Amino acid sequence: GKFIHKVNTVFYRRTGTDVVGAQVDAASRHASGEKNGCKSLHSLLVERQRQAEKSVLISCQSKTNEKKLLKYLSRHGDIKRHFFYESYGVYAVVEFANKDSVASLLHTVAVPCVSHESIVPFKSRLLSLRNSSLVISSNQSSQIQCLPQTPILMNEVIQRLSKEDTLDRQITSLTEFYQLTEENIRLRFLVCSLLKDIAAAYFPECTVKPFGSSVNGFGKLGCDLDMFLDLDSISGWTTELTKSGLLLEYQMKPANSERAVTQSILSVIGECLDQFGPGCVGVHKILNARCPLVRFSHQPSGFQCDLTANNRVAMKSTELLYVYGKLDPRVQSLVCTVRCWARAHGITSSISGAWITNFSLTIMVLFFLQKRNPPIIPTLDHLQDLAEELLCEFFEFYATFPFNRMSINIRKGQEQNKPEVSPLHIQNPFESSLNISQNVNTTQLKNFVTLCQESSWLLYQSKTMSPKGVAVDSTTTTWGIATLLLPSRVPGIKGHRKRREPASERIKSLLESLKYKTQQKKTKD
Ligand code: CTP
Ligand code: MG
Repeated sequence: GKFIHKVNTVFYRRTGTDVVGAQVDAASRHASGEKNGCKSLHSLLVERQRQAEKSVLISCQSKTNEKKLLKYLSRHGDIKRHFFYESYGVYAVVEFANKDSVASLLHTVAVPCVSHESIVPFKSRLLSLRNSSLVISSNQSSQIQCLPQTPILMNEVIQRLSKEDTLDRQITSLTEFYQLTEENIRLRFLVCSLLKDIAAAYFPECTVKPFGSSVNGFGKLGCDLDMFLDLDSISGWTTELTKSGLLLEYQMKPANSERAVTQSILSVIGECLDQFGPGCVGVHKILNARCPLVRFSHQPSGFQCDLTANNRVAMKSTELLYVYGKLDPRVQSLVCTVRCWARAHGITSSISGAWITNFSLTIMVLFFLQKRNPPIIPTLDHLQDLAEELLCEFFEFYATFPFNRMSINIRKGQEQNKPEVSPLHIQNPFESSLNISQNVNTTQLKNFVTLCQESSWLLYQSKTMSPKGVAVDSTTTTWGIATLLLPSRVPGIKGHRKRREPASERIKSLLESLKYKTQQKKTKD
């Protein structure tokens, strides 16, 4: 409770990003202080970056003998941790106990000799293990085990959810199926660290930090990797005059604006990634966007990457989401379930366009949690029930939200009159003049609202008939959250659900249930 108050005071001040940022920092450290067993985002980033710097990424063969490989590598120092995964081939992530070991290993790595084509001789910590009898396993049993880095398929999710016996368990399982694994997070930081090495050719003191869903706690396996090239750590000697009254300054090239600096840096780094970056393919420089970026695929990790620079506001909103997620485990579960539901119905998409983004959707969940009565974090007694209730209420909340007139504002925790005509208006908490969902068109918003109505009704039904549902096959019947993920029957929304009642009956009883709820609400108020 104390902490929520603190977070709220942070939003009410409108004193510029840096001051607000500092307050989020303080609140974050307070909220997620190590004494609570969870780290502030800052200390988490520092620790993960250190791990990544001591790690190498090695392309192997599926028959690689794990023991022999580890023995070979450990000649350079103790190995702290390692794992294998598959992405266009088998890869090993190996973290040494000391950074020196990486240097020692790189000392012994060969430059490939290619007979037909030429290569750019750029050295990095992305290595390949060449065919050698030493490392090929002779028997099946010693074959390596690859850890998955992509989510399980929707059909399997639906099957597995239907086997749970409470809605609460379904929500927890869904979160577990999708959330980023320890290994996937390590891989994300390792990719940042590899990219840092490339940018460091120009800016040796730079860092590349992940932001967005890779670190805000709401990431789903397979989500993109948003990165931010941080040049703030480039520092000089103090500007105080020395006793002699003399001061030497670096001569640096002036530019027209901060934006122009960002564009020229990203243009050059983008060119480097394209021309020299091992594993970086499909590099596109999108420098005229509101937030200039370089987009590319990092093939060895399988991540779709967005590299930005000078993007402190996004870093702050990442931290804000991280703090909110840490307040209560239900925040993460609810966001994950809603994200998954939205993805299943094409409300969100992996390609950019007029769709509602996951970020907008997350802010909508947070806004709903602020608005509900009582607000989040009630007594322990309510926890069990609320885990289920929240999802139902979330759908009802947005099924009836006056999107045509009102803007969502999590700084105030209150809807406000829309300042412009966009179908969906969500104020950017750190840049109040911006609408984070400007891209969304009327059709997409309508789909979202219709699905909220339908899903609210389905959940309401599930509660009265769980866990008996619709037969998927001879062994499983779909019920609860699983039913929500089946294709919808609403016209205009892709696919349709297998359901028993005719659509008109369903809509009728949905409207009745909503009407009843609204009346109840009014009576309460
Ligand atoms: N962001 C922002 N304003 C926007 C869009 C994005 O501040 N209009 C910031 C947010 O911090 C967001 C991050 O940029 O978390 C990354 O954006 P995006 O990749 O679109 O969202 P994610 O939260 O990373 O979700 P996803 O899993 O879909 O990538
Ligand atoms: Mg992202």
